[in-house]
Amino acid sequence: MCGIVAYIGKKQALPIIINGLKKLEYRGYDSAGVAVVSESGIAIRKKAGKVADLERLLAVNGFDKTSTVGFGHTRWATHGEPNDLNAHPIYDDDQEIIVIHNGIIENYNSLKIRLEREGYIFRTETDTECLVHLIRSHFKNTDNFETSVRLALNEVEGAYGICVLCKSEPGKIIAARNGSPLVLGVGEKEFILASDATAIIPHTRQVVYLLDGEMVTVTCDNFSIKTIGDEKIERALEEITFDLEQIEKGGYEHFMHKEICEQPESIMNTLRGRIRKDNGLVKLGGLTNVVDKLAFAKRIIITACGTAWHAGLVGEYMIEQMCRIPVEVEYASEFRYRDPIVYPGDSMFVISQSGETADTRAALKEAKKRGADVYGIVNVVGSTIARETDAGIYTHAGPEIGVASTKAFTSQLTGLALISLLIAQHKSLMPPNEIKKITDELLRIPDKIKMILDQSDKIKEIAKVFKFCQHMLYLGRGYNFPVALEGALKLKEISYIHAEGYPAAEMKHGPIALIDANMPVIVIAPKDSTYDKIISNIREVKARKGVVISISDEHNTDIDEYSDYSIKIPSTCKFLSPILTTIPLQLFAYNLAVLRGCNVDQPRNLAKSVTVE
Ligand code: G6P
Repeated sequence: MCGIVAYIGKKQALPIIINGLKKLEYRGYDSAGVAVVSESGIAIRKKAGKVADLERLLAVNGFDKTSTVGFGHTRWATHGEPNDLNAHPIYDDDQEIIVIHNGIIENYNSLKIRLEREGYIFRTETDTECLVHLIRSHFKNTDNFETSVRLALNEVEGAYGICVLCKSEPGKIIAARNGSPLVLGVGEKEFILASDATAIIPHTRQVVYLLDGEMVTVTCDNFSIKTIGDEKIERALEEITFDLEQIEKGGYEHFMHKEICEQPESIMNTLRGRIRKDNGLVKLGGLTNVVDKLAFAKRIIITACGTAWHAGLVGEYMIEQMCRIPVEVEYASEFRYRDPIVYPGDSMFVISQSGETADTRAALKEAKKRGADVYGIVNVVGSTIARETDAGIYTHAGPEIGVASTKAFTSQLTGLALISLLIAQHKSLMPPNEIKKITDELLRIPDKIKMILDQSDKIKEIAKVFKFCQHMLYLGRGYNFPVALEGALKLKEISYIHAEGYPAAEMKHGPIALIDANMPVIVIAPKDSTYDKIISNIREVKARKGVVISISDEHNTDIDEYSDYSIKIPSTCKFLSPILTTIPLQLFAYNLAVLRGCNVDQPRNLAKSVTVE
């Protein structure tokens, strides 16, 4: 979603802002713009399209490159189409107040009506513009930039991460957040504000994470944080732990491909220090104090969005089978609107790569309000969800830049396996040697993934056959039903081919009507208790001339007879099977999308981190 980068210091602001915006491109956007303080006021340029289009515009019209104060924005349209006019920065006719904004102002309409009555003329279709005029109207009364922003924010409802410049007080940037993330990087006499740390890390590792309801005033010498209720806040600096190389492509053509190939390593990072060397049992520092509560929970709710929700579905199978605790998996976006039944003492796991997804945060808040204990399974360290949960684990998959989630998903599955084992071991539901068998197998998973990655060329060749297909069906059972959903989602997201995932046995209740020679069907069929049934499903597809691509265990050759294309993966236990079966589906979707000429890292209309509801 929208990205914010602001710089104030001694260096030229523009290159830092542009490079920062490029680092945030992965979040998803459709227009971009910048504003810098110049001798004659504030210079602004904005453009629909990519940051590269904005750069071309800046190159042709002699934009002030010497300024040391300014900000930039990538916009993901919510109010008003993604054109030049609605691109941010948004400003008033005198260019006195200039705002970039991530989020949605919910009381936009009533504010607009009031401001129009006061004589302000709206030029754009954005909700952000009401913020501009509101700050301006307070500035007219108070003649104080900081006070005006604070008073305006007190009247605003909704989500925002904003940065504001004021022509009359040009050596200052004011930023504030409520619901949309903002991080302040603190360097040597220079400060960088950004929506996430990826834009800050090239400049400094020292950061302050702003919390909801806080605003920061930054000059080139200092910064001060207050609440929008005007209380001063002291906050210690924190250190960013990841490296610059982790957010670079490192020789790969796309981040998505890099992240698929990183999975042996990212899974090892999820496991690191969590399996005891002496006895193979699980320890999770982040859950030590709550494992007793979890073990005796009457039920567990898992909530998430998108790919993380699919991880939650696998988690349901794992926790129910290993821990014998009923689990409900809820779309976060549905949860809070259906008056959910939550008993005090219920436990909820919130799964999120970014830790910033607005719907997931809202579900978390709702569950907390109703008395649940809420635990996080989060990738981004220090993110809002990680802070708002009572306890939890980090997945430590490292920064994920490709919009389509890959390594974050397999790390979520790994984290869920560890949590399930921890609870089962605490309840003595599984003997230690059984636990050890599974943790030994977990430690073998990275090597098994390497064996699948070694088949990349073969999977690419299969993808070539389907370059022009329009629909695809994914079938799986048990642990691999959520994998079918995830495989279909990957394909839709990045190749724009319509795909659906189904539990294999459900095919005969509807999707079978679609099967003909033009309907490729991917069947995930590891050799488990449902294998024979899945073979029957495959035969049903073949009987209707469907084209079958099967994914099954190596050495399992009987399935080849019924498959047009067959991909073999190493065998593993049923709990961990989804971690392996997902990999060929990621490679298949990736290769197909590349062959179709799609922008795999930034698919149209999608955002990496969806910070609006
Ligand atoms: C967006 C992303 C997905 C992701 C989902 C949930 O839709 O494009 O890849 O699965 O949000 O994001 P989260 O950061 O909460 O896991």
